[in-house]
Parts: sequence; structure tokens; C-alpha cells
Amino acid sequence: MPGLTAPSDYSQDPPRHPSLKINSKDPFNAEPTREALISSYVTPVDFFYKRNHGPIPIVDDPEGYRVSIGGLVEKSVELSMDELRKLPKYNVTATLQCAGNRRTAMSKTRTVKGVGWDIAAVGNATWGGAKLCDVLEIIGIPKLSAISSLGGKHVEFTSVDKCKEEKGGPYKASIPLRLATNPGADVLLAYEMNGEVLNRDHGYPLRVIVPGVIGARSVKWLDRINIIKDECQGFFMQKDYKMFPPSVDWDNIDWSTRRPQMDFPVQCAICSLEDANVINQGKITVAGYAVSGGGRGIERVDISVDGGMNWIEAQRYQKDTSYVADDDHYADKWAWVLFKAVVDAPENAEVIAKAVDTAANVQPETVEAIWNLRGILNTSWHRVRVQKASHIVKSNL
Ligand code: MTE
Repeated sequence: MPGLTAPSDYSQDPPRHPSLKINSKDPFNAEPTREALISSYVTPVDFFYKRNHGPIPIVDDPEGYRVSIGGLVEKSVELSMDELRKLPKYNVTATLQCAGNRRTAMSKTRTVKGVGWDIAAVGNATWGGAKLCDVLEIIGIPKLSAISSLGGKHVEFTSVDKCKEEKGGPYKASIPLRLATNPGADVLLAYEMNGEVLNRDHGYPLRVIVPGVIGARSVKWLDRINIIKDECQGFFMQKDYKMFPPSVDWDNIDWSTRRPQMDFPVQCAICSLEDANVINQGKITVAGYAVSGGGRGIERVDISVDGGMNWIEAQRYQKDTSYVADDDHYADKWAWVLFKAVVDAPENAEVIAKAVDTAANVQPETVEAIWNLRGILNTSWHRVRVQKASHIVKSNL
């Protein structure tokens, strides 16, 4: 692991913004307040959720840092940051979302295991770096390949952090080679976040960004990239981040029956209101974010202030960034939309938001229908209970 070391304890973790809500201190897992999350279209680094499974690695020798790339290929290489920076640079605005986003609410139905998150384990950043497909060409894998010359079908990313789930070993994950070699999938080896050098919490000096896929596959502090035959056998691929049906519990679980989760489903949440807000005005603002995985955009966000009997459509906002991909896709297909509706304040009611994506997928009505023992992918209609009424949270829409 040239240039990168992993501490065994948390004493050298970086400082963080004091306004973050800490869900677990060691390892550090924290999210911004609901209000801060939608205060801008691109989430400032300070307010971007932090999801870690061990102490934050240290780059002790930036010049000496190399990422090694090899496996089932005829040629292996080690690339320095300078060499990566010489490849064509792409800026991709993409929403990263932890599969555990909204887990706390799922636990209210039936207890689930995992770090508790409110609705802000999600953020929208402009990631800058080289495309993985360009890097793989250097080791002889052409664009749009599903299999390497020596039979590799997956790309495994390995870090250096010491995770207890891996018995003190590093975090790792893989994605299919056909995704990694597809220029239109925009998979990045990112060294910048919002125009600045990545900070330590978010993967300095180099991380993977897999747009439209759950955050767990976007490995931080990258040490090795390996072309492998079968998907990565690490804990976070095989014993975590899989979606089970409500009938499976800890007594009858068979991890091998499910695939590692990749794309995330359509999601939205109201950020301008907290549960039990007391509101007095005639009107309230219902604002939040909506996003879908796999490059599917958001078609619509529906709002109800009477528990789902009547709906109105919210206004949507998505910034038109300068980036247009080479495969002629919609500029911000990986990014969230922010939504807003100003509605008559209801009497003691449930305010609900649900989003529909461009494939007409819609969020499920109840959490019970999608309950799973690890509490992942809670995309049920987002409901906030308010009482007659005074609370309007400022939104920059
Ligand atoms: N990479 C490493 N090396 N270690 C980790 O703990 N956490 C993953 C992913 N990559 C993780 C990692 C998970 S579960 C998520 S949701 C995202 O990083 C979070 O990225 P962020 O902390 O930059 O928001």
C-alpha cells in the first residue's frame, strides 16, 4: 500500500463540522440536519454525510502514493496521482446515497440492525477525476467489455482501512466489468469533490464513484483495483448490503440467496419539516430531495397533506451543470432534484411526499412492505406528522 497507512484507532481522525448529527462516533458516521441538506443543490463538503467502517487512513507520502491495477489481465500497472491527472478529467455531478438512509424509520416498524440514519445519508456533489474505463484501457481492457482476455468479469476495489466486519482487514467491493468499461456509466476514480482536493473523510487521495449505485460500492482510499472472475467475496458484498424480503430474519437468513445490491431505487424525502412541527401560518413549504438510481431521472414528486387522499405535484429544480457526457445523455442524470410545494397548512395531519422516476417506478406506500432485517433501502413514502402550524424552514429553491 504505497503512500497510504491505516491507523488502528480513531485518535487521528480529521476534525468535522460541529453541526453534523453524529450517529456513531467511532467509526465516524454522521449526517447534516434536514434543513442544511437542501440549502444548496451541490452539497458542501462539510455537510456531506460521512459513512465509515474504521479509522480514517492517512496519506503519509503523497508523492509515493500509487494505485495498483491488475488481476486477470496480461498487463498490470501502478499509477501515481500525477499519471491519473494526465488522463482526460471529467466532472460528474452525482448523488451518493447510503443504502442505510432512513433506517431509523424502518426500525420503528420492527427492529433492524445497523447504524441509525434519519433522511440525510445522501448528498449531491460534483466529483472530478479520471474515468475508470480510460484507466482500464491502459491494462488492455477495451471500452464496453464484459470479460477480460483472461476471463475476468468483475472489478474489485480494495482500500486500506481496518474494518471490524472484515476482522481488521480493508473495506472492499466490486462492480461488473461491463459497468466499469461503459463510458456512459461515468464510473470515476475521483480525486476532487466540488472542485477541491478530496478530503480525508471522503477518500483522499483517490476513491471510486459509481453513480446511481448504493454508496457502499464507491470505495474510498483506493489501494488496489483487481480484475476478478467472480464478484468480490468481501463482507460488504456477501454479508451486508443485500435486500431481503420481510419474511427473512436472523434465524433463517441465507446470505447466498441474494445478490449484492447495486442500483438504488427511487427515493425522496421532505427536509423542510420535522416530525411534530407545530405550524401556525396559513401556508407551509414542503421541500426536499428526490433521486433515483441507474441513471433514471425524476419524473414527478407528489405531495399530500391529508394522509394520501389528495395529491398535488411539487415544482422541481435541477441545476444545469456544464458537464454533458460523451454519450449524449441528459446533463444531470446522476443528480438529485430538489422539490418544493407551498400548501395550505393542514390541521394535525400527515404530510407525505412520493417520487416517480422516468421508468415510472414509484416509492412503496408502506415501510412494512419493504422491511428487511438490515434496514436498507427504506424508500417508503416519506411522512411527516405536523400539528397546526408555524414552522417554515427556509429553502433556497
Ligand atoms: N470505502 C471504504 N474504504 N470504507 C468505508 O467504510 N463506506 C462506504 C463507501 N466507501 C466505506 C467506503 C459506504 S457504506 C458509503 S455509503 C460511502 O462510502 C460513503 O461515502 P462518504 O463517507 O464519502 O459519504
